[in-house]
Amino acid sequence: MKERMEAIKKAAFERIENAKSLDDLNEIKTSILGKKGELTSVLKGMKDVAPEDRPKVGQMVNDARAAIEEYLAKESKMLQSKIREEKMKKEVIDVTLPAKKLKAGHRHPNQIALDDLERVFVGMGYEVVEGPEVEYDKYNFELLNIPADHPAKDEQDTFYITKDILLRTQTSPVQARVMETGRMPIRIISPGRVFRSDEVDATHSPSFHQVEGLVIDKGITMADLKGTIDQWAKEFFGPDTKTKFRPHHFPFTEPSAEADVTCFKCGGKGCRMCKGSGWIEILGCGMVHPKVLKDCGIDPDVYSGFAFGIGLERVTLLKYEIDDMRLLYENDERFLEQF
Ligand code: DAH
Repeated sequence: MKERMEAIKKAAFERIENAKSLDDLNEIKTSILGKKGELTSVLKGMKDVAPEDRPKVGQMVNDARAAIEEYLAKESKMLQSKIREEKMKKEVIDVTLPAKKLKAGHRHPNQIALDDLERVFVGMGYEVVEGPEVEYDKYNFELLNIPADHPAKDEQDTFYITKDILLRTQTSPVQARVMETGRMPIRIISPGRVFRSDEVDATHSPSFHQVEGLVIDKGITMADLKGTIDQWAKEFFGPDTKTKFRPHHFPFTEPSAEADVTCFKCGGKGCRMCKGSGWIEILGCGMVHPKVLKDCGIDPDVYSGFAFGIGLERVTLLKYEIDDMRLLYENDERFLEQF
């Protein structure tokens, strides 16, 4: 029995010594110490051993088991560190290799134009204020002098949620919200998304962006409006830009105007971009209607002010000479990567 044990131990040690991988070691372990292993089968043969010899044999088996286990553990540790060493050797880093280029995203052209526009107005002392996209009819229409039967309501085909709640068709409701707070003077711009039930084409979308502007103080005149827009246009489109104001109509301003800038492509000579006229329309504006001031709690005999509304997509398309608005919404990386 003792010899058989020694033989098993010797064979086990030899096999362990020659093992090349952790898998080999595992296999050795099962084949000797496992349920059907050699050593285990010795224990199973105990019934043939004389009872007085059993403790001795048992002790021998346990000693052999312990010795084999110890050796297995030692070899396994050695193999593991060898494997790690080899892996490290293979993984040397060549610090002279050029680094992989990180793929960074790009700012959307609309966002670039908005940041630039905000930079100019904030520089003039304006505050940026945002309003809700889901709005009450009261702010979107009524307080802006657009009562229920007003024809302007048709022009701004509206997505209604309930009779009184809608998706705002313009950023002008923020004017009413700010005026209502009663804090004076007011000097704000308010960028945001607006909605109209329009079909998608090169110049229309059911959702686009406007930037509203509002200034209210004592003694504000049309000259302030013209000077402000002119200064913004020069900083935004280039120092040679000139502005022109044409009479127009908006229910919430009186007088109202549309402002044009000289075409920054041809400088005013006339080209494809400005359809030969030398001018490009960029915004609607006017002096805030006394009724609007009054309805929002401001005394029109004391205060006056101007307002304007810029179509963000419009100035983005102009600034980057993009001829189809749909490109701004499709998020095609090949398009966006150019900015
Ligand atoms: N809200 C107008 C629109 O959507 C644009 C506009 C015109 C805003 C004149 C104004 C303004 O504040 O004074 O067509």
